[in-house]
Amino acid sequence: MKPSPFRALCLAVLVGICMNRDVCSASQAETEVVARLLALLLSSGRVVLAHNQPLINDATKGEKGFTAAAFEAQVVEEFKKRSGGIDLRQLDAVMIPDKGKSLLQALLAAGQEVIDGKQAIINERFLGYKNVIPATWGTWTSQKFSQRNHVLLKQTALDYRNPNNAPDEFETRILRKFAAPDYPREGQQVLSEVTNGGKTLRLMLPLYHKKDCLVCHGTPKGEIDISGYRKEGHREGEAAGAISVAIPLSE
Ligand code: HEC
Repeated sequence: MKPSPFRALCLAVLVGICMNRDVCSASQAETEVVARLLALLLSSGRVVLAHNQPLINDATKGEKGFTAAAFEAQVVEEFKKRSGGIDLRQLDAVMIPDKGKSLLQALLAAGQEVIDGKQAIINERFLGYKNVIPATWGTWTSQKFSQRNHVLLKQTALDYRNPNNAPDEFETRILRKFAAPDYPREGQQVLSEVTNGGKTLRLMLPLYHKKDCLVCHGTPKGEIDISGYRKEGHREGEAAGAISVAIPLSE
């Protein structure tokens, strides 16, 4: 179905991304919505992993019940909160292009597959840290998702740990904006641009350090954290990085 410019504009206004009637084509506005939702979904999965971290790391417990189904149920709830009420189990009712719906479903499925594939280690007893954390889940999930779809999804940072997460030129420029002390820390303030001569929509969702993050990314700088990397010396509220999405724009 060809989306009407009016509907696209409504959608765009609804999610507060692209407000200028003159510069937003219908397809661009809708693609932007989809990119934002994909970033929010990856971010929601990260939050669910973080909530379950004490359970996952519990060395006194074998079977933990953190199955792909349990994970899915929690992500659905978290995403509903973050997206202003979108139910991943009832996407039919949501006004986004069908392509966007299938991308969201594919991302959720990739995230579940990762959790499913880690059941043996998650349920290991007498083992605390298992390297199943928001960042590794995010890396594995976005790799699976990006390989299967014509959409790039990744986590990135200026002082990245995983070389596969290194920012490109566009990402570096946006990450610097996110790091500015006056950039809003609340409200999921994404930035997006059309790049590649009008062919690609790129969008980034910033991540800021909270207390929980600093166990690994905090001080003292240079000390080895539980995951085996050197702590970056960050403080609460500082920019941690971003979730980055690149989607081809249909002509
Ligand atoms: C248990 C230690 C640990 C905690 C806690 C942690 N991280 Fe990380 N973080 C890592 C590891 C390990 C990686 C590298 C993951 C990979 O291999 O892709 C990473 C990677 C990242 C990246 C991707 C860029 C890069 O460095 O490769 C971002 C962004 C990030 N973390 C942000 C956060 C935020 C925000 C929090 C808190 C909500 C957080 N991290 C909490 C260990 C941690």
